[in-house]
Formats: sequence, C-alpha cells, structure tokens
Amino acid sequence: MAQATWRSRELTVGQVAERSGVAVSALHFYEREGLIRSRRTAGNQRRYQRDTLRRIAFIRVSQRVGIPLARIREALAELPEERTPNRDDWARLSETWRERLDARIRTLERLRDDLTDCIGCGCLSLERCALSNPRDRLSAEGPGPRRLLVDEDCLDAGHCSA
Ligand code: FES
Repeated sequence: MAQATWRSRELTVGQVAERSGVAVSALHFYEREGLIRSRRTAGNQRRYQRDTLRRIAFIRVSQRVGIPLARIREALAELPEERTPNRDDWARLSETWRERLDARIRTLERLRDDLTDCIGCGCLSLERCALSNPRDRLSAEGPGPRRLLVDEDCLDAGHCSA
C-alpha cells in the first residue's frame, strides 16, 4: 500500500488506518455509525478527506477517556460537513465539551485520590462507610459508586448546579 504523503488530500482506507492507528474494520464501523464519511471511486473504493484523520483522533482519545460513542457523535455533529472544520469550529466543539471533560477529570481525580475512602458503592466494607454512607443511604441517589460519579451523573441527568 502506498504510504500517504503529506501532499495527499485524499487517502485510501489503508492509508487512513496506517496513519491513525485504527483498524480498517473500525473505520468501517465509524462510517456506519455516521462518525466519519468517505466518497466512492468509480471502482467503489473509499477515499477519505485528509481532515478525517483529526476526527478519528478525536474519536479515539475521547473513547480512551471513556466518553460514550453517542456523546462523541453529538459533538462531531457540531462540525460542518460541507467543508474542512477550522480552528473556530473545533473551538466551538471544545467549548461544548469543556463541562463534560471537567466532570470526567474530577471523576478520574477521585478515582486516583479517594479509593482509600468510602466511594459510596454499597459495599459498606470500610470503616469510613459508616460515616460517609450509613446504612447505604447513597443508594437512594442511584446505582454505582455515588461518591465517584456524582459530577457526570448530574450532567447526564441535566440537573448540575453550577
Ligand atoms: S466503599 Fe463501598 S459503600 Fe463505602
């Protein structure tokens, strides 16, 4: 397969897979999910615009920090389809994501810093649980480790107080 050169404005599926580090099957999946798109040649070969590499990078990193595909799709839908997204387009996307990424960062910080403390999971196995989650009262707030997920769950539920 011919390696993509920096001059190539259009890339084959193999070149995109090589440069992005994503398997061809995953690229097909992203396309089926409407996250990226390609055109077909007369020989029915896929050709991707070079800026697709940025979208794929965004998808991969977002997935790596655990952002659901549905949220990634919502964010990518903010970008123009008819032209290559520019800096302002990405800035707009980044702004809409700031709150969600900040919440994810807080969750990761709690995971890093608070595992020695009660995480509100219902196990009642630590001494601290008696103070932080007596009789598992946090279960009334919902499933899972309530003291870790607090910020993201309120974002999902749409009732985060600033
Ligand atoms: S750590 Fe599980 S309820 Fe406290």
